[in-house]
Amino acid sequence: MSRRQMHLAAHFPGVNNTTVWADPESKSQIEFSSFEHLARTAERGLFDFFFLAEGLRLREHKGRIHDLDVVGRPESITVLSALAAVTERLGLAATVNATFNEPFELARRFATLDHLSGGRAAWNVVTSSDAFTGENFRRGGYLDRADRYTRAAEFLDTARELWDSWTPDGIPRPFAHRGRHFDIAGEFTLPRPPQGHPVVIQAGDSDEGREFAASAADVVFSRRSSLEDGRAFYADVKRRLAKYGRAPGDLKIMPGVGVVLGDTAAEAQERAAEIRRQQTSPQTALLTLEQIWGVDLSSYDPDGPLPDIDPVVDPALTQGRTRRGDTVAIAEKWRALSREKGLSIRQTVIEAGGRQFFIGTPEAVATELEQFVRYEAADGFILVPHLTPGGLDEFVDRVVPLLQERGAFRTEYRGSTLRSHLGLPEPVRN
Ligand SMILES: Cc1cc2nc3c(=O)[nH]c(=O)nc-3n(C[C@H](O)[C@H](O)[C@H](O)COP(=O)(O)O)c2cc1C
Repeated sequence: MSRRQMHLAAHFPGVNNTTVWADPESKSQIEFSSFEHLARTAERGLFDFFFLAEGLRLREHKGRIHDLDVVGRPESITVLSALAAVTERLGLAATVNATFNEPFELARRFATLDHLSGGRAAWNVVTSSDAFTGENFRRGGYLDRADRYTRAAEFLDTARELWDSWTPDGIPRPFAHRGRHFDIAGEFTLPRPPQGHPVVIQAGDSDEGREFAASAADVVFSRRSSLEDGRAFYADVKRRLAKYGRAPGDLKIMPGVGVVLGDTAAEAQERAAEIRRQQTSPQTALLTLEQIWGVDLSSYDPDGPLPDIDPVVDPALTQGRTRRGDTVAIAEKWRALSREKGLSIRQTVIEAGGRQFFIGTPEAVATELEQFVRYEAADGFILVPHLTPGGLDEFVDRVVPLLQERGAFRTEYRGSTLRSHLGLPEPVRN
């Protein structure tokens, strides 16, 4: 077994299809105590970073707020600034959109977080720019995919110029950036951040997204959480690094994964099945199907068979979700699965749509996580618990010690910055 140490991060379970709000153990998604509990647990587990996602508009389905979005999301950098005061080593990663912000303002906020936290800030650069989300903003949604990524790349370059603009002895130097998306000049308001540049995370799967990650990111948050899929994704993204003069170790690939533990394999499987049932109510099952079929399916019985009509493309049915790919192919795959195993609509959604879980005893899960790293399907994991905020307690108490015993995970923080946890060098100053 390889002894390459893995990286671990914690995703705060807010608005996503894995969170089970109906569970009696679920607490507030907005009170500081929830964020604090999860962050302190992650730091107790010596995790690399704590991760907050972003949603800039409540998603809608058939003109109504999507069930999963009822809880909304607070603004990430504000939450992380408060967490900086109650943690010491844990990295603090905020998802912030590059389409709806301005480089000067965002560079300033991330530099501030990096200074306040002693070098623990990370920026997950996302690009979603559908017109629906854009309606909340001055310019509206106006960028297609290619433009989103050219803007994101120039945005990041500009931010890096700003972070580098002060001299090493703390004197501001004038900067000027003249490009396609930004034309700005002046003086930056802060000295260079402790990490040089905050750690950059990328989460997007298209060709453009992968290229952007290879050219500019330190970490990729991926959805590829099966071994086979993960290996293909890992090889593809790492292969792209060479043309930017980067080595494979310069970019860490961390899929988002769920973990379900039990004292025996059977108990863990039972818990996982129960969690999937909680995550996929009959209404959620129909709603998921409608997102793929593009039509109202409310007359269908969630315990009955899948529709035999083909999907249509209706972008207005579901607003604010990222594209699901070729819906006709997905529908065909799901129908085949349902026929083969004799599954109802709800059972099919549970079987096909559930996010990959690592399920088993703590020993089995530790072994599986190690294998993913050994077989180059991941450099580490972003754990996505289904409970707020206690969903990581058991992992930290039962799996982390096993990984440590096996030499697969750190037993102490060696440095104080997020770059040092991730084994990333300080970026060269421009
Ligand atoms: C694992 C993962 C997590 C993401 N998290 C967010 C998020 O929190 N907020 C957001 O606006 N977009 C998020 N995105 C969307 C991406 O930034 C991107 O806009 C989207 O995937 C479309 O880009 P693509 O065509 O390159 O995949 C996420 C994407 C992935 C794959």
